[in-house]
Amino acid sequence: MHDIIDQLEQKRAAARLGGGQRRIDAQHAKGKLSARERIELLLDEGTFEEWDMFVEHRCADFGMADNKIPGDGVVTGYGMINGRLVFVFSQDFTVFGGALSEAHAEKICKVMDQAMRVGAPVIGLNDSGGARIQEGVASLGGYAEVFQRNVMASGVIPQISMIMGPCAGGAVYSPAMTDFIFMVKDSSYMFVTGPEVVKTVTHEEVTAEELGGAISHTTKSGVADLAFDNDVDAIALLRRFFNYLPLNNKEKPPVRMSGDPAERLDLSLDTLVPDNPNKAYDIKELIYKVVDDGDFFELQREHAKNIVIGFARLNGQSVGIVANNPMIMAGCLDIKSSIKAARFVRFCDAFNIPVVTFVDVPGFMPGTAQEYGGIIKHGAKLLYAYAECTVPKVTVITRKAYGGAYDVMSSKHLRGDVNFAWPNAEIAVMGAKGAVEIIFREDKGDPAKLAAKEAEYKARFANPFVAGARGFIDDVIQPHETRKRICRSLAMLKDKKLENPWRKHGNIPL
Ligand code: HXC
Repeated sequence: MHDIIDQLEQKRAAARLGGGQRRIDAQHAKGKLSARERIELLLDEGTFEEWDMFVEHRCADFGMADNKIPGDGVVTGYGMINGRLVFVFSQDFTVFGGALSEAHAEKICKVMDQAMRVGAPVIGLNDSGGARIQEGVASLGGYAEVFQRNVMASGVIPQISMIMGPCAGGAVYSPAMTDFIFMVKDSSYMFVTGPEVVKTVTHEEVTAEELGGAISHTTKSGVADLAFDNDVDAIALLRRFFNYLPLNNKEKPPVRMSGDPAERLDLSLDTLVPDNPNKAYDIKELIYKVVDDGDFFELQREHAKNIVIGFARLNGQSVGIVANNPMIMAGCLDIKSSIKAARFVRFCDAFNIPVVTFVDVPGFMPGTAQEYGGIIKHGAKLLYAYAECTVPKVTVITRKAYGGAYDVMSSKHLRGDVNFAWPNAEIAVMGAKGAVEIIFREDKGDPAKLAAKEAEYKARFANPFVAGARGFIDDVIQPHETRKRICRSLAMLKDKKLENPWRKHGNIPL
């Protein structure tokens, strides 16, 4: 018996070594942790239950029959993050460059299937050279099996991808279908085709980092949500991020009480909005001052900065925050910001996370670039997302809410549960100047008359009381009591029930 136990330990030790010490050292030399070290950091100490440590590939071509490494390039299993269940797979670059074989894919599918059955999130730590070249179509089939599961799991369990090495070719589409993508700076990249192929096809000269590095994807493309400095930071923040999420779509997100009183007032908010309506202010200041302990986990902070999204807590309750930011492009909605916020609202809705919206929006961005780029369809995404959303929705208009953008930004008409406005709010079809120039066009040559009409329009419409008189605004509140009023609204909405009619699925304008 002892011999067998010793053999087991030897087998385990061999499997733990993956592609061998030399390759682990090479991984370290690149500033990267090994697949197992990453799991150790991610999960609560001693909670990792590993599966399929002895799985091997079944390929016999190109000398592979004699080249088998137990585990086959991916470490899989489950464990806990702050005491809450999570399934995980971590690709091992030291084994065939983390390339995905049929057996490797089966291991990933196994944890995904089990996560679906028990209702727990899946975190993928990606570090892979893509399809296992020696296996050909068997590997492609493996990818497709993972893709299918990504889609079935979408909206059922949270799926998070952390890109910690190469992720190229069709392999990018598994992370792309997960809810969040995080990347590590300088050591990870994602692209459909690499720099060599790009050069041949389009004659563009570009480095891997420029083409698909963490900075490119968190600033330009918006494919990734955040970029972290290194593996350790990335995993520490991933653990924090996990705390905001429920384990599945039937659960409510965890409540984490803080010492921050729900009724706390903040008098500095009374002077946040400048007197001049054309002057910018930073909406993030409002967010930090309203949420529990000023703790806001912002996503996509370098992409489409005219809208701000992220998670926070209000009286311990996880909430999704969406806010126009007047600091960037006056806070107007354009293609990128609409897509960014729409996807976030849909995530919150799928996972029972209330949405708090701060509105200061002068409208949709005009111009040919936007029209040719499809702002009509993309702007409609945000409208669609808010309109189908059934979780509690609390909205605060801090200044402008003009035109179609007023409707879109979680208005009463899109089943906003509680809609507040600050006293200086301007809720109208458009700003007074533009409005007067259209309806009093014949007085174009008479600036004094136009100025008088503008003042009249402002007095009549540039306030929250016209909307208030119709019940489109539930109350006009003092800025300093914003936190208190939102917290009370969320408490009232705790057991909100609202269902959309049955359908196979809606047809969001993609
Ligand atoms: C098998 C692979 C591999 C792969 C790397 N290796 N990629 N083995 N299949 N796809 C092996 C290498 O042979 C090497 O083995 C070890 O992993 C480390 O690779 P290196 O090249 O030494 O590392 P590095 O210089 O860091 O370069 C990493 C890399 C490069 C950029 C990922 O290996 C590379 O370009 N690989 C090929 C990538 C690729 O074209 N994949 C297919 C993409 S298409 P030894 O024994 O020397 O350590 C795809 C389709 C998916 O994925 C479709 C889904 C629908």
